[in-house]
Amino acid sequence: MTTHTIALIPGDGIGGDVTDATMQVLTAAAGHYGFVIDATRFDWSCKTYLATGRMMPDDGIETLRGFDAIFLGAVGWPAAVPDAVSLHGLLLPIRKAFDQYANIRPHVLLPGVVGPLKAEGFDILCIRENTEGEYSGAGGRVHQGRDNEVAVETSIFTRKGVERILRFGFEQALTRRKHLTSVTKSNAQKYSMVFWDEVTQELAAEYPDVTVSHMHIDAMAAKMVMAPQDIDVVVASNLFGDILTDLGAAIQGGLGFAASANICPDRSSPSMFEPVHGSAPDIAGRNIANPIAAIWSGAMMLEHLGESAAAAAVLRAVQSATARGIGIRPGSHGTDAITAAILEELA
Ligand code: IPM
Ligand code: MN
Repeated sequence: MTTHTIALIPGDGIGGDVTDATMQVLTAAAGHYGFVIDATRFDWSCKTYLATGRMMPDDGIETLRGFDAIFLGAVGWPAAVPDAVSLHGLLLPIRKAFDQYANIRPHVLLPGVVGPLKAEGFDILCIRENTEGEYSGAGGRVHQGRDNEVAVETSIFTRKGVERILRFGFEQALTRRKHLTSVTKSNAQKYSMVFWDEVTQELAAEYPDVTVSHMHIDAMAAKMVMAPQDIDVVVASNLFGDILTDLGAAIQGGLGFAASANICPDRSSPSMFEPVHGSAPDIAGRNIANPIAAIWSGAMMLEHLGESAAAAAVLRAVQSATARGIGIRPGSHGTDAITAAILEELA
């Protein structure tokens, strides 16, 4: 029987609630489809930071490297640890160290979920560059606290980085409606974004079956609200993709439905799967958090591990549960009730 080894990092806040729910569903799916999920839990979190001064041990990355995949709940407990410390101590180094350059986020309304828009029939796949761009971490501060204080944060766009994320997007478009929207701001940012547009054009020549649109981020934000049904695959830089995917989450009914995968496409390192939502300290451990975003991310992990039938079954179970009205409105059902309904559908 195939065994998939998973590094499980519940992290902070509702991360624990939603990873527990996800592991129940994935374990059940493994049982039905004849494979084993061998999960090892790592209690790396803001609590760990407060006790040890580190979000994860010095050899944390090397420890994770041996796993087939990583499943992460949420990171952040801002009341005790600044977000810039916790995120740069755990989530962001994992994405970079393992070259998880493709951050994939599907924005679709699940059956029964009523979003804030009139539009219903949209199916958007957002692909966000995840390792460089505006979040490269290159910069510095000088003259701190003085009136000549300077803060510099440099965006870094490399040919390798831009080309590979766009190529990934073109390949995804070929499996879908064959339309790719490349999002930039090349009317204002004349170096990096004009470069991005040029690389898009170069690749477009290699993919004649894919129709390409160029959109500026401001217009794209409007389009996601006004005409989301006209959008197929979106490729955007780290910052723009970050913002657009919170908008995507909003139009699909909220962060509780927003799944996400950080993919290392050449599989030289493990990929990481996590719901988009944050740690929501106010509702942690109270059986309130919607586990659907995490469970859907778990389905994306099964797909990545080659368990396509199980992945599809988990997503179908989620869809059947929401079609029955389970978990479709905040507060309508608790974490346990939603998980139980999904397990029932899976059975
Ligand atoms: C996300 C989150 C993270 C990001 C934060 C927490 C650093 O907002 O996954 O979208 O910006 O990547
Ligand atoms: Mn975000």
